[in-house]
Amino acid sequence: MKLHICKDVNDLSMQAAVWIGAVIKQTLAMQDRFTIALSGGSTPQKLHNLLSGYPYREEIDWTKLHIFWGDERAVPMDDERNNAKMAFDTLLDKVAIPMEQIHVMRTDIEPERAAEEYEKVLQKYFSDKGFSFDLVLLGMGDDGHTLSLFPGTPVIHETERWATSFYLPAQHMHRITLTASIVNRAARVAFLTTGSGKSQALKQVLEGPFDPDKYPSQVIKPIGELHWFVDKEAAALLTSVH
Ligand code: 6PG
Repeated sequence: MKLHICKDVNDLSMQAAVWIGAVIKQTLAMQDRFTIALSGGSTPQKLHNLLSGYPYREEIDWTKLHIFWGDERAVPMDDERNNAKMAFDTLLDKVAIPMEQIHVMRTDIEPERAAEEYEKVLQKYFSDKGFSFDLVLLGMGDDGHTLSLFPGTPVIHETERWATSFYLPAQHMHRITLTASIVNRAARVAFLTTGSGKSQALKQVLEGPFDPDKYPSQVIKPIGELHWFVDKEAAALLTSVH
């Protein structure tokens, strides 16, 4: 695991943008597509804004990118809470990715059917062996959840399905989410985590006993690289860096 300690969310977004730009360039020098799963939530927005501007807009060969999502809130796509809407507003509407290479988790059909459809798309891209995504971007909630793997939810332990859905009473909505089984086959996984509100959970996730029902982010152990981009506030309680 590589821990990238950054000054604040601006510095973190810049460092992540540089790293992502380099990873895409390296990978496309060896293969003709780059598959990336985007994260929801608020933290990635600054990063998206950077990637949609100079120099990344010009330097990245966007025609070779294939876009997926880690999870989605089952609300209409014009709803401010919709993760795909956030990504289109902050990045995808500004760069030249062919629409057939952008795989939104549908929220206009039953969540379980949307999850099944998504699984079929993933199976077209990834076989049962080897790496899945070239890069998965993740966030972490104050409660230690990631994707839509919330504390105490059975989906944390899903090993068969690559995508599934469930109802989240606390948020009065269904969630559609990738599972750890497909994310842990990624060549690279990068968490973006900022703010003092996440310092307790981050300490438990990185330095606490293994208890994924309490801190679901602990189930993310990719066969490839694991990166944590964190700011000073989020890292404030980590003994490993202080
Ligand atoms: C979601 C996300 C979720 C998110 C965390 C962090 O749809 O809610 O995918 O896992 O990454 O909740 O969200 P913030 O970046 O807003 O703190």
